[in-house]
Amino acid sequence: MRTHTRALLAALLLGTAPVALWAQMVEPTTPPPAPEFAAQGQPVFVNRDEIYSYRALPEYHEPEFVTKFVEAGQLPPVAERLPTEPLVYSAANMPDGVGAYGDVMRHVIGGRPEGWNYTAGQSQGWGGIDIGLSECLTRTGPLFQVNPEDLQPLPNLAKSWEWSEDGMSLTVNLIEGAKWSDGDPFDTKDIAFYWNDVVLDPEVTPLNPASQETFGQGTTLEVIDDHSFRFVFTTPFPEQVLYSLAYGTFCPGPSHVLEPLHPAHGGESYDAFKNAFPPDYLNFPVMGAWVPVEYRADDIVVMRRNPYYWKVDEEGNQLPYLDEMHYRLSTWADRDVQAVAGTGDFSNLEQAENFVESLRRAADENAPARLQFGPRIIGYSLYPNLSGNGWGEPDERAQAVRELNRNEHFRMGISQAIDRQRLGESLVKGPFIAQYAGGLYPGTAYYDEASTVFYPYSLDSAKAHFAEAGLEDTDGNGFLNFPEGTLGGQDVQITLLVNGDYQTDRNLGEGVVAMLEEAGIQVALNTLAGNDRDAARDAGQYDWMVYRNGPELITVVQGTTQLAPTGPATSWNHHANEAGELDLLPWEQEMVDTVNAFIASRDPTERTELMKQYQRVFTENLYHVGLVAYPGALVINKRFANIPEGAPIFQFNWAEDSIMRERVFVPADQQQDYELHPDTLPGAPGGDGPVTAG
Ligand code: GLA
Repeated sequence: MRTHTRALLAALLLGTAPVALWAQMVEPTTPPPAPEFAAQGQPVFVNRDEIYSYRALPEYHEPEFVTKFVEAGQLPPVAERLPTEPLVYSAANMPDGVGAYGDVMRHVIGGRPEGWNYTAGQSQGWGGIDIGLSECLTRTGPLFQVNPEDLQPLPNLAKSWEWSEDGMSLTVNLIEGAKWSDGDPFDTKDIAFYWNDVVLDPEVTPLNPASQETFGQGTTLEVIDDHSFRFVFTTPFPEQVLYSLAYGTFCPGPSHVLEPLHPAHGGESYDAFKNAFPPDYLNFPVMGAWVPVEYRADDIVVMRRNPYYWKVDEEGNQLPYLDEMHYRLSTWADRDVQAVAGTGDFSNLEQAENFVESLRRAADENAPARLQFGPRIIGYSLYPNLSGNGWGEPDERAQAVRELNRNEHFRMGISQAIDRQRLGESLVKGPFIAQYAGGLYPGTAYYDEASTVFYPYSLDSAKAHFAEAGLEDTDGNGFLNFPEGTLGGQDVQITLLVNGDYQTDRNLGEGVVAMLEEAGIQVALNTLAGNDRDAARDAGQYDWMVYRNGPELITVVQGTTQLAPTGPATSWNHHANEAGELDLLPWEQEMVDTVNAFIASRDPTERTELMKQYQRVFTENLYHVGLVAYPGALVINKRFANIPEGAPIFQFNWAEDSIMRERVFVPADQQQDYELHPDTLPGAPGGDGPVTAG
C-alpha cells in the first residue's frame, strides 16, 4: 500500500479526512511512457586497462617550442619532468590514434571564476575549467565506454590500490615522480593536507560536499610513505570509496602553496586562505594539462600547456596535444550559439530551448560542428528544503514553510499541481522531453519502473492534498492560507531559488510559479547568478529550489553518499543544523539506511534490490519532486580528432572529462591560428603570465 493511501486510511479512521476530499485524490501510477528518442552513436566498450596503463617508455617527446625552454636552461629535459612510469594512453583506444601538437580548444562558459582555491570551495566558473585544472586520485568520466563487468573507477593520480584481506583497509599507491605545473613534487604531503585541512576541517567547505562521511563513517587516513597511504574503515570493503576518490571529492590542491596560508599552519584566517588566489593570480600550480596564464574579467581565461604534465601517448609524446585552452566568459546560451556557428569549439547542448535552432544549423553539411544526442539524463526536479531544525536559519515564515515541506500531503499537492507535459512544451516541442517522476532515470542501470511512483497532474487532487495538509483559502483571495495558529493565518508564500545563469532554469521556475498559482499557492522566484545560487543552496537559504540533478541519480555509484542525507552535509536539500543534528523523517531514515546498505554490499543482486527500494521510497515520498528529463547533445567542432564515439554530455561526469581532452588533437593540416600566447609556457606562480624561451 502506498504511504499516502496508508496515511489517508489512518486519517479516515481517526475521522480527520472528509470522505469527499479523499475521493478527489488521484492515485499515483507508474510514470507515463516517454516519446521515442534514440541516442545517436554508441560507445565502443572496452575494459579499463585498454584505455591506459602506467609504464616507462624508451624515449619521450615534447613540442619543438618546449625544447627551446630546455635548451635555454629554463626547464629540465622532458624525461626528467615526467614520472618514472607516466600514464600511457593506448593508441588502440584512441579513435584517431597518436596526435599532433598545436591549436586551441575555445570553450565558452556562463560561470565566473571566484579564484583558484578549488578545494576551499571556490568556483572556477564550470564548463570544464575546474575539471581540467584539478586532477583527482581516480577518474570516472571515461567510464561511459567501460564494459559493465569491469565497472570500477579508472586509476589516475592513484596508480593502484590494494584491499587488506578483511577489507578493513585500503592501501593507495600514488604515481611516483609526478610534479605540479611549477615542478614541485606531487606526493603524500598533498594528500595529508587535503585530508586533514580540507576534508576534516569543518571550516573548509569544498564545492562538492566532501567530509569524512564521503569516505565512510569514521574512516581515517594514514600516510605510509611519500607515495602511499592507507584508509582504515569501520565496515569491510566499502568499494564506493574508489568513486569518492574521483572528480569533485578527492582532487588535492598544491599543498606547497596552500598550506602556509591555512589557519592550522599559521595562516591569518579561513577567509584569507580561501581568497588567497583570486582569478588574476596567474600560473597557479595544477596537476591538470593546462595552467591559467591570463585572466580578463568578464572576458577570458587563457591557459597554456603544463610542461610537467604526467601523461603521454604510446610513442612517448608528452600530452596534451593542444597547446592552449580558452574559456570565454560569456553565457551558457552563447556557448551553444558559438559552438554551432564555429566561433567556439565545444558545447554541452543542454538547454532544451536551443535544440531546434542548433539541430537546424548542424544539419547543413558544411556546418562547422558535429552534434550528437545522447540518452535522456538531463533532469530537473523541485527540491523542498526538508530541514525542520534550523539549517539556513529560517525566519518564522520560512520555518512554517519547512514544516509544510515535511508534510507528505503538501509534497503530493506540489507534484500533482505540476503539468509536466505543458512544462516540457514550454521549453521545446517535439520528442525530447519526458515527464520525470524524480529519483533514478529511466534507461539507467539501476532504474526499475515498477518501483517508481508517479503522482500525475490533477489540480483537484493537488487541492485535496493541500487541504489535507491544513491549508485553506480563508480570506477568499484565491490563495491558500496557513491555519489560524500559524503566522496569523496569512497567505502561504514560498520562495523558489533558481539559477539565473540558465534560461532553462528560469523557464522551469516560471512554469512552476504559474502552475502552483493555479493550485492556490503563491510562489515568488529568487533568481540568483550561479555562484550566489550555489552559496544560498549550501547555506540552506531557500524554501524550494528548481535544480538540475547531479550524476548520482544516473550512475548511483558516483556520489552515492549524496543520494540521501547520509551525513550532515551530503544531501542537497537536507543538511544538519549548526549543532550537527539531522532531523530525518522516517522515510528519509529509510533512504539513508538503504543507501548505506548499498554501499556496504558487494552482492550485485542485493544492490539491485536495494536500489529498487530506494527508488520506491524516494518517489513515493517525493524527496524531490521530479519535473522533466531530456537528452543533451555534444557539440564539437569538426576539426578535433580522438573524440570517442557515443560520449554522453553527462554520465559519470561531464563530457569535458569523458572525452579526455588531453588526448584530443587537431590534425596538422586543419590547425588554425587561434593561439593568443604562441610559443609560451606558464611562468612562476603568482607571476605576470606566460613566459617565452631564452
Ligand atoms: C556547467 C555546464 C555543464 C558542464 C559543467 C562542467 O554546469 O552547464 O554543461 O559544462 O559546467 O562542470
